[in-house]
Amino acid sequence: MMNDAVQTMDAGSAQPGSEAPMLECRGVSRNFTVGKGVFSGKKNLRAVQDVNLSVKRGEVLAVVGESGCGKTTLAKMLLGLLKPSSGEIFIEGEPITDVDIRKIARKVQPVFQDPYSSLNPRKTLESIMSLPLKVHNIGTKEERRQMVEDIMAMVELPKRLIHSYPNQLSGGQRQRVAVARALIMKPEVILCDEPTSALDVSVQAHILNMLQDLRDEMNLTYVFISHDLAVVEHLADKVAVMYLGRLVEYGDKANIFSNPQHPYSQALLDSVLTPEPNKGIPEIALGRGFPNPLDPPSGCSFHPRCSKIMDKCSIDSPSMYDVGDRKVECHLYN
Ligand SMILES: Nc1ncnc2c1ncn2[C@@H]1O[C@H](COP(=O)(O)OP(=O)(O)OP(=O)(O)O)[C@@H](O)[C@H]1O
Ligand SMILES: [Mg+2]
Repeated sequence: MMNDAVQTMDAGSAQPGSEAPMLECRGVSRNFTVGKGVFSGKKNLRAVQDVNLSVKRGEVLAVVGESGCGKTTLAKMLLGLLKPSSGEIFIEGEPITDVDIRKIARKVQPVFQDPYSSLNPRKTLESIMSLPLKVHNIGTKEERRQMVEDIMAMVELPKRLIHSYPNQLSGGQRQRVAVARALIMKPEVILCDEPTSALDVSVQAHILNMLQDLRDEMNLTYVFISHDLAVVEHLADKVAVMYLGRLVEYGDKANIFSNPQHPYSQALLDSVLTPEPNKGIPEIALGRGFPNPLDPPSGCSFHPRCSKIMDKCSIDSPSMYDVGDRKVECHLYN
């Protein structure tokens, strides 16, 4: 209820045009109803709660957090594939609820984790990469072929592969196809959901470097979802740390990496300093596992794992505080 009020009040300031952020979330939440047992009943799962963030044109925002914290749910909402339960999302100042899904697709394109399952195994690279053009009625067959060849050159896929099928490619090549397919519509924003976590470390580095080069060449904005902080450190300008559906710290990458303020960010960053940074977030750094989202802890949802727990943490939910240059949702900063 409150989110709605805040969002309506603010809505006037979102003017289309160059001043508006490329992407903006205001009080965005998404709930799922789960369970259909006669005795267990239905439960409300709050996958994303009251997320506020904005991404400027050309910026790379990394969203980090453990499995199940709501990253993909947020991504799907940014793509217009899932409706927020409350709050609103804006693309260049325009609420996406007013924009049809095809128009969103021309501005925001996804690259998902598993390049194998996201590519149709029965289609050649040419038809996979030209499909978005066809759907949007862009160009003649020859023109589309040329655009596919151009984009293949940009992502460094050999031209000879144009008639190949996804299963004839390496993992890294498949992910290049996924990136090419996203780029062919010349979008403004690329939304990468764990784009390299299924790849070998050496291949990851190639893809990440390519994404960085493409950003400069095409003036792209990225939302980059990852649980791998080593990757984030390499790419991001801004970092949003999520815990159990909530944004708990949000600010410039350099500041968050050099001086994390939320105890959860501190634990996450400690995990980067372990000998195996690519193994994701080790349990040891955080003690017990991720809580059950259907039965979230009282007060601050991080309190059962927090090293700096105080009496009120299990009772009251903290607000988001401005701490210097960033935002932190923690009672320590009250
Ligand atoms: N369609 C759905 N129906 C019910 N619950 C869902 C649905 N989609 C996601 N969830 C739940 O919402 C929470 C957030 O899921 P989400 O996929 O966004 O997490 P994530 O951060 O992307 O995790 P991962 O790092 O494993 O990809 C989880 O508890 C998940 O079980
Ligand atoms: Mg996910």
